[in-house]
Amino acid sequence: MARLLGGIGSSHVPAIGNAIEQNLQQDPYWKPFFAGYEPVWDWLEEKKPDVAILVYNDHGLNFFLDKMPTFAIGAASEYQNSDEGWGLKPLEPFPGHPPLSWHLINSLVNDEFDITSCQEMLVDHGFTVPMSLMWPDRKLTDQIKVIPVCVNVVQSPFPTANRCLRLGEAIGRAVESYGEDLDVVILGTGGLSHQLDGERAGFTNRAFDTEFLEKLTNEPEWLLQYSNHQLAELAGPQGVEMIMWLIMRGALGKEVKELSRNYHIPISNTAAGVILLEKTA
Ligand code: DHB
Ligand code: FE
Repeated sequence: MARLLGGIGSSHVPAIGNAIEQNLQQDPYWKPFFAGYEPVWDWLEEKKPDVAILVYNDHGLNFFLDKMPTFAIGAASEYQNSDEGWGLKPLEPFPGHPPLSWHLINSLVNDEFDITSCQEMLVDHGFTVPMSLMWPDRKLTDQIKVIPVCVNVVQSPFPTANRCLRLGEAIGRAVESYGEDLDVVILGTGGLSHQLDGERAGFTNRAFDTEFLEKLTNEPEWLLQYSNHQLAELAGPQGVEMIMWLIMRGALGKEVKELSRNYHIPISNTAAGVILLEKTA
């Protein structure tokens, strides 16, 4: 049977991809940010998962405002990246795992989640930056198969935080019911607080992010008290991306241990966070 080992929450700011490309990890601006990933690299090196389910949002590369599925899952044998205009060099395609993708899609639709299945899917910085952060050596990336789970947090209406947590629980059930012997890790990406445009551009909220990180492991329902409008107020309109971390958290079930966490503010315009959670039962 497939096993979910744990989950990682991580921001996806494009500038991080530029820093990796330019090898700036030891630069004074970047060092405290990248230091937060050391426990994650050690954990991934020890666990060597076979598949990564990567929950992310597309920012207009694959889905534009004219067609915007709430939840879309990739079922391709590889996922191409392409230039989005952030100055990032397009990365080599990421290998997929179509049988597990289809199992997830079937299982989730049976569980009454309406999923758009994508046999072709371009992945943007929301996907590639977390991948480069988790597996900085591209040789490692090629040893892991990916399943992109794309969530609309770009054009209103977004799914509620509650819906995201429940989708995560359903993903957890789907993985555990897959017959092949596979070790799986799930990533929840985006956030934390940020606002990229408008009068409040540059807004972040350390107190709110800290409480979110504090509650995520043992009380993820804490975030459900807020509507997405309230979240946009508290964390910034792009900070709403943090609801995708609830999908990761929901997939892990009740018994979870926090192994590490880092918060670094700001990276570009964004409060950057990383958390590593291990499933203990
Ligand atoms: C930034 C943050 C994002 O989440 C994003 O998608 C693009 C840019 C930023 O802070 O620069
Ligand atoms: Fe974003």
